[in-house]
Amino acid sequence: MKYFIITGATGDLATTKLYPALAEIFNYNYYLPDIKFIGAGRKEYNQEEYRELVQNSLSKFTGKLDFIERLEYNQIDFGQIDTIHKFFTQHNIQSGDEVIWYMAIPPQAFNDVVDTLAEVKNIHQNIKYKLVFEKPFGSDLSSAQALNHKLAENFNEDEIYRVDHYLGKETVQNILALRFGNSMFEPLLNNHYVESIAIEVWEERGIDKRADYFDKTGIIKDILQNHILQTLALIAMEAPVAMEAEYIRDEKHKLIKSLRPINPQNVILGQYISAEGSRGYLEEEGVNPNSKTETYVKLTTYIDNPRWEDVPIYISTGKRLSENKAEIKISFKPRFKYFSHIDEGCNPQQNELVISIQPNEEVYYTVNAKFPGKGMCIQPVKLHFTYEESFGQKSQSAYARLIQDILDSDQSLFIRADEIEAAWNYVNPLIKPEIIEKRELILYKAGANISEIVDNIY
Ligand code: BG6
Repeated sequence: MKYFIITGATGDLATTKLYPALAEIFNYNYYLPDIKFIGAGRKEYNQEEYRELVQNSLSKFTGKLDFIERLEYNQIDFGQIDTIHKFFTQHNIQSGDEVIWYMAIPPQAFNDVVDTLAEVKNIHQNIKYKLVFEKPFGSDLSSAQALNHKLAENFNEDEIYRVDHYLGKETVQNILALRFGNSMFEPLLNNHYVESIAIEVWEERGIDKRADYFDKTGIIKDILQNHILQTLALIAMEAPVAMEAEYIRDEKHKLIKSLRPINPQNVILGQYISAEGSRGYLEEEGVNPNSKTETYVKLTTYIDNPRWEDVPIYISTGKRLSENKAEIKISFKPRFKYFSHIDEGCNPQQNELVISIQPNEEVYYTVNAKFPGKGMCIQPVKLHFTYEESFGQKSQSAYARLIQDILDSDQSLFIRADEIEAAWNYVNPLIKPEIIEKRELILYKAGANISEIVDNIY
């Protein structure tokens, strides 16, 4: 028997991501008969109240909701070994079973839960454990190292699933398919042809009701350290020996380690302030009114290896910006000088390969083509592919994919200990307390077009 235990069962992550993902999985006709789903938390809920909470979290879901009947709630104090021991006994979890322990809890609680589970593992042996950690895994390099160390003392790396839900997105996985399943992109992805790479993850939304989490975290730890570095690693890494978890993770790790160390002087940090009809960050409920937490970061990085030498990588991410987009743009060196003089109205541009993760899941390539008619006027046109047009369906949600992979014991889309430490090592110069103290934040109006503001600073 398998036990899928969601700790933090009534929290934000469980209600916004995990229940919708489970609903999606069940609606694909995966009934997962040999799995027991248990929501666990410190709060007191009876079964009805809990199922109602799950149902409310699925108000936008249009499929069948019968899986809710399969969920049950248990009140547990995760720091108490006796309680967890009782929980195992009550559910008759025994040798040969598999326990998936999904930590949808605040990261500050990870350490205590791992301590308790390590003790549980000593008592309840011969059980296959899978510990699933949400990000942020650690709050800086040393805390991530300490947590990895504690895990390594008690569990094997193949029992640890560090989630970065960006890796569950089809468009992000498609980066590997585009690069290594085609002959036409990979030969160009190097400093002979690429002028720059830009990775932008912009959000119109603010921090919703997550002040408690976000104010301690900031956008560097919330998005740069994980989603952006993972995406960059997939875009720029060398070909893995094979499309298998360890080989892919070897290459991502190598790439993240090759990033040129950040000089905090060259990084722009911002925080949103109130604008007509919307609150500023410091007015958000639960935020410290003197907070220096950044809601925006922009920097240029380089990869110090022969393939990418001197190719700038422009990174920017932030909350309460003017548009929603998550996209990778590879700009190639211009090759149109033989055409550009012909007609003043012509507007040839450098080629771009754009992988859009959000709002549209699409990939397009801009090329210059001849404008119809007399003369030789060239203009950029788009060659493009969207999931919906090509495959007739929208892709599965990232969390549904990740949960299925956890059930199948496939770690390809989860981050290994060394990768996570390399990523913390990269952002560490920006998050040291003494640096945070001295921070200068540019203030931007909620909903502002940030490029107009920061491009003027350069
Ligand atoms: C999460 C961050 O990891 O990713 C959020 O904690 C962010 O702050 C979210 O909004 C963005 O992911 P998605 O898939 O909702 O675009």
